[in-house]
Amino acid sequence: MQAVEARRNPPQSPSASYDPARMVPLGYDDTDYGTPAREGAAVTLTIDGREVTVAAGTSVMRAAIEAGIMVPKLCATDSLDAWGSCRLCLVEIEGRKGYPASCTTPVEAGMKVVTQSPKLAQLRRGVMELYISDHPLDCLTCPANGDCELQDMAGAVGLREVRYGYQGQNHLKDAADESNPYFMYDPSKCIVCNRCVRACEDIQGTFALTISGRGFGSRVSAGQDQPFMQSECVSCGACVQACPTSTLQEKSIIQFGQPDHTVVTTCAYCGVGCAFEAQMKGSQVVRMEPYKDGHANEGHACIKGRFAWGYATHRDRVLKPMVRDKISDPWREVSWEEAFGYAARRMRELQAKYGRDSIGGITSSRCTNEETYLVQKLVRAAFGNNNTDTCARVCHSPTGYGLKQTMGESAGTQTFKSVEKSDVIVVVGANPTEGHPVFASRMKRRLRQGARLIVLDPRRIDLVDGVHVKTDYHLQLKPGTNVAVLTAMAHVIVTEGLVNEAFVTERCEAKSFQQWREFVAREENSPEALEAASGVTAALVRGAARLYATGGNGAIYYGLGVTEHAQGSTAVMAIANLAMATGNIGREGVGVNPLRGQNNVQGSCDMGSFPHELPGYRHVSDSTARAVFEQAWNVQISPEPGLRIPNMFDAALAGSFKGLYCQGEDIVQSDPDTQHVAGALSAMECIIVQDIFLNETARYAHVFLPGSSFLEKDGTFTNAERRISRVRKVMEPLAGLADWEVTQRLSNELGYPMNYAHPAQIMDEIARLTPTFHGVSFAKIDELGSVQWPCNEQHPDGTPIMHVDEFVRGKGRFLLTRYVPTDEKVTRKYPLLLTTGRILSQYNVGAQTRRTENVRFHDEDRLEIHAHDAEERGIREGDWVGIESRAGQTVLRAKVTDRVAPGVVYTTFHFPESGANVITTDSSDWATNCPEYKVTAVQVTLVEQPSQWQRAYRNFRQTQEGLYEARTTGAEAAVK
Ligand code: SF4
Ligand code: SF4
Ligand code: SF4
Ligand code: FES
Repeated sequence: MQAVEARRNPPQSPSASYDPARMVPLGYDDTDYGTPAREGAAVTLTIDGREVTVAAGTSVMRAAIEAGIMVPKLCATDSLDAWGSCRLCLVEIEGRKGYPASCTTPVEAGMKVVTQSPKLAQLRRGVMELYISDHPLDCLTCPANGDCELQDMAGAVGLREVRYGYQGQNHLKDAADESNPYFMYDPSKCIVCNRCVRACEDIQGTFALTISGRGFGSRVSAGQDQPFMQSECVSCGACVQACPTSTLQEKSIIQFGQPDHTVVTTCAYCGVGCAFEAQMKGSQVVRMEPYKDGHANEGHACIKGRFAWGYATHRDRVLKPMVRDKISDPWREVSWEEAFGYAARRMRELQAKYGRDSIGGITSSRCTNEETYLVQKLVRAAFGNNNTDTCARVCHSPTGYGLKQTMGESAGTQTFKSVEKSDVIVVVGANPTEGHPVFASRMKRRLRQGARLIVLDPRRIDLVDGVHVKTDYHLQLKPGTNVAVLTAMAHVIVTEGLVNEAFVTERCEAKSFQQWREFVAREENSPEALEAASGVTAALVRGAARLYATGGNGAIYYGLGVTEHAQGSTAVMAIANLAMATGNIGREGVGVNPLRGQNNVQGSCDMGSFPHELPGYRHVSDSTARAVFEQAWNVQISPEPGLRIPNMFDAALAGSFKGLYCQGEDIVQSDPDTQHVAGALSAMECIIVQDIFLNETARYAHVFLPGSSFLEKDGTFTNAERRISRVRKVMEPLAGLADWEVTQRLSNELGYPMNYAHPAQIMDEIARLTPTFHGVSFAKIDELGSVQWPCNEQHPDGTPIMHVDEFVRGKGRFLLTRYVPTDEKVTRKYPLLLTTGRILSQYNVGAQTRRTENVRFHDEDRLEIHAHDAEERGIREGDWVGIESRAGQTVLRAKVTDRVAPGVVYTTFHFPESGANVITTDSSDWATNCPEYKVTAVQVTLVEQPSQWQRAYRNFRQTQEGLYEARTTGAEAAVK
């Protein structure tokens, strides 16, 4: 066995420049500068006798604070444009009458400003007196005590007493709104500064808040003067963060009190990769506040990252390793040592009996780069095969393939910030307001500034007719016809002379372009010819294509609605073709941007999780690349690609694949055709699940290794922009070991030594062996805050925009994208098309979000059905309906809506008992095997009882829960 023959690796030396005690990036600064930073020519003025130089357009307030001169303020904060309502920031400016507000006054060259004078002090005290006279005097017991700007300002202006009595009219008895599970609104403390309203409008773009009433009757009001939970509020928390008082206050602060230290880390939910300050009191998280210097999010967040972190310490966490010989046995809690010994022995026995290739591993897009790297290393070095795959198989594997083939790199081309320079935004098969909400807020801001919008989606997603956002073209195509519509758009661009000839001539392959031009120009690819197939009128396709090609900077953002199709890779290529043909590549405001689902799906692909690719996307058959790893790892690596996840299942059912190490994924719930997956797992003899919860997959497992949440470990995540950000440990691993330590110890037990003392050393190894990561280290990330790969000798500070002067592969390659209808066609038996997606408050299989108060926003998966289809079937809102495909049947409650077109039904997949993937089939992308989740032919009927699968599932779940309850425990289970 190769691994056993491996020589012992030398212990790793500690990373030279990295300080593991560093909790925040270098240059961390939480000062509130009052108004946003500006870019412009330098302007010099004098403030309190000091010369200060700032960019033109900067406010006097910001100029002062940047110079270290404190100016009192209440209605100003640097995440929002100035409003100028509180009058606390008054200053004196030589040559000007009166006392202008420094927050709304821009600097001018030669200006002479005074921020402190007896008159200013008197005016400010007067303002504060008025505020305080209608404010509860409960500072000592207020949850914001010590973190309240009103309190700070009362001190700053020297307010000692209030001349006005409390007998008159006031708001002190106004009732609080506690309806939101995460924050409360106490109007008695409101100073009507409008910061919350502006945050909801400018930062979040939801417009849920207004100031209703006038004068003394002014108050903040959500929706139509409704409780927050009943309004359009999406619980992003921007208003809570903006509020200078305790009026809008996190309930976690009320419960736990104010933080005593801060750790900057990265959200563990979606591929936006928002940076957060984990505000801690000891080892208790009291607030997750978006980090304003976070490059992906710039101080904004969504409900999941900001509020839904309680799962990390949920009582369902399994904290002891467990083993059992058969899945019908009760679990047995054991020590870590025994668990590793048991797991290694069983895996080695399987290899001895069934061959080296009879086992494999699955890496997790929720785990860090370092952890993912170790799992694939364990498979290649300790198992001695390439049977490693990742959940990207079932989401963005076509992105990797399609972009690599056309442009030479498997990743998105831009930064999120780039959208601020876009003139035309095309959203294909993505629902950013639900799936990538913080990016959606950025995009909506740009749309409010006048950028145009094209949406290709079978559903009328929020962006189509959102608040202050309207699409110019909604191409409501039938599921499965992306390639038809994208190719028809290309037809219009080519036949109407809209190609950017100069770009194509200079940057792309002449031959492939000519072939493509000839191909798309054919009549069969015209919008008119494809109208019947796609269901989109030709005029709309023509209009959208013209707008994209001629409207200025055109940026395409796409999601799983593109990739999870039988022609997923073809659609990605079609998108790349469009961008190249119109020259929308290689600068800000343009590009091809896959919106990645899970937090580290980009990273898990980068780290060599796929069976055919070593880290950095180098094919295992490439002997030069293999030699680099063979030398570093002291093993021989097989030149043959290993099994993909669906191949593992097929091989298990065929009897040749017997053991699986699955880290941080719940393949039973997330992969298509649940009964097929369950059958495959039942046929295996040793399944090792490493997770924080006893998930659906763990019910089929023989070894359970407790995982650690993102709060319990160090490492990095890579978001959809290729941005590598630090995950910093805020508490010790609850089960005693971080995930990377678990893999390391398992590997050691298998006889392949790993000796890392810290994840920084793992990243050092990745950087040594991977050209696109040569310049990456924890020290570098600490210094820059985050870094976008490629980061190496040529790009020491990373690469925000890809393909600037030339494509990674040299010349851009056009590929032919012939539309081939999917085999999942409607028939008389299955006359509707089911498509699936996600919802804002839940995440993926729901394992995390279902264990938070987010269930109050979405507590079950429902089937969206058009009124016409519902009426035909006698279905009303809330009825139980059976959904049947050729793979299986399940039952959900109906939601009658016009968001879907007639003939299309839609559901989410966040709850295991919904069984959405019982229905999805084995149909998959021709190039990558990515499942066709987005198109399943189904019939929907009224029913009165759960499906047979659901009844069997409940029984199985009950049995397995019983086997967990009946587990034997022992003192030996203590962490060793
Ligand atoms: S939580 Fe977000 S969406 Fe809700 S009111 Fe506040 S800013 Fe608006
Ligand atoms: S709720 Fe807070 S932010 Fe909003 S107006 Fe009142 S004090 Fe200002
Ligand atoms: S947008 Fe994504 S990364 Fe950002 S807070 Fe929400 S879930 Fe986390
Ligand atoms: S901070 Fe300038 S007017 Fe309120």
